[in-house]
Amino acid sequence: MDFRDIVSKRRSIRKFTDEELTPDQTQAILRAALMSPTSKSTRAWRFIVIDDKDLLRQVAQSKNAGADFVNDAPLAVIVLMDTSLTDVWVEDAAIAAVTMQYQATELGLGSCWAQLRLRGQDDGTSAEECLRDIFQFPEYLKPLCVIAFGHPAIERKQQDESKLKWETVSINKFE
Ligand SMILES: Cc1cc2nc3c(=O)[nH]c(=O)nc-3n(C[C@H](O)[C@H](O)[C@H](O)COP(=O)(O)O)c2cc1C
Repeated sequence: MDFRDIVSKRRSIRKFTDEELTPDQTQAILRAALMSPTSKSTRAWRFIVIDDKDLLRQVAQSKNAGADFVNDAPLAVIVLMDTSLTDVWVEDAAIAAVTMQYQATELGLGSCWAQLRLRGQDDGTSAEECLRDIFQFPEYLKPLCVIAFGHPAIERKQQDESKLKWETVSINKFE
């Protein structure tokens, strides 16, 4: 699959089969993250890889909506950043996260992003606080998102070329 195919085929997958990822697949996904670009090459990420069912359930419940699929995934990776080392942690974490998603697509796997930053429970407890309770990471580490990975249990159409918003692109001027 060349990169043009990978970007067309990457769609958010929220339903997975029970099949586990192989250690090689998991490693390839993390390898991609660890090669992703960071501002000033700080590489201040931390990744928590989760394949324990009970932990996957707890992570899925760390916010009030939009992360249920994490519970059904065989693997998830929480992307955290050491905010004491970089002032652009959101950007660096997002790039690592999406790089993992493209690698997963290339491997024939599905993935979906669940937002954690600025999300939480109905009672006001943030997803970050929930996760800090579970994993005991220090205050200076901030989670951006958790990405669920697995073998797709549904097929999704690839990106629709006819719906690309080419009108958002202008050349040598703003319009
Ligand atoms: C910053 C960001 C936050 C997202 N948060 C969630 C989320 O919390 N739950 C979810 O189901 N999908 C989430 N998504 C996935 C988007 O819903 C999805 O990428 C979008 O609908 C486009 O669909 P596609 O990925 O299939 O192209 C998020 C994606 C991004 C980039």
